[in-house]
Amino acid sequence: MNGLFITLEGPEGAGKTTNREYLAARLREAGLAVVLTREPGGTALAERIRELLLATASEPMSIDTELLLMFAARAQHLQQVIRPALSRGDVVLCDRFTDATYAYQGGGRGIAPARIATLEQFVQGELRPDLTLLFDLPVETGLARAAARGQLDRFEREGRAFFEAVRQAYLDRAAASPVRYRIIDAGRPLPQVQADLDKLMPGLLERARG
Ligand code: TMP
Repeated sequence: MNGLFITLEGPEGAGKTTNREYLAARLREAGLAVVLTREPGGTALAERIRELLLATASEPMSIDTELLLMFAARAQHLQQVIRPALSRGDVVLCDRFTDATYAYQGGGRGIAPARIATLEQFVQGELRPDLTLLFDLPVETGLARAAARGQLDRFEREGRAFFEAVRQAYLDRAAASPVRYRIIDAGRPLPQVQADLDKLMPGLLERARG
């Protein structure tokens, strides 16, 4: 595999959607083939699993079901989209990946990281992101932004303690893997966040062109 695998992580309301479009546009302008995708989802079948995961109207979902559905969607996404793109040498820009599982199912739901690691190994083998951009911001700011968008999904309805645990799990993972992670302060106005992304571009281009 000789493509570049970049993941975008962070809590709700961190501006990942806007910033992933921005980053993809910049990389494409520089002449790179970019596959922009997201999790859970990224294929027709995985998007159906996403609907199950985010829906609020059904019976309560067990946390193990939630964990397994995340990895079921991921297995499909890897096979259909991510591995083929990396084999072609493309840049894969993925909005959330397994760090989100450690943060939400691990930090938020309290599942032991060792159990998540077992599934990670099973579904991904040795594949891990080359670079992870963590859009970090205070929990209240993120929740206020998410609430302003309207209808809340099953995760967005969780309370503040859940999201504090999610944020902490992300920060702990970033501290444990400083080479792979870049933390971006997403609580600032968008132009400042995008100025940080611009600063990352030369390094990204160098790595993508290998
Ligand atoms: P999104 O809002 O970024 O589209 O992501 C959908 C939700 O799914 C978000 O609340 C985070 C959650 N999620 C997990 O709980 N575990 C995961 O592994 C992934 C990829 C997402």
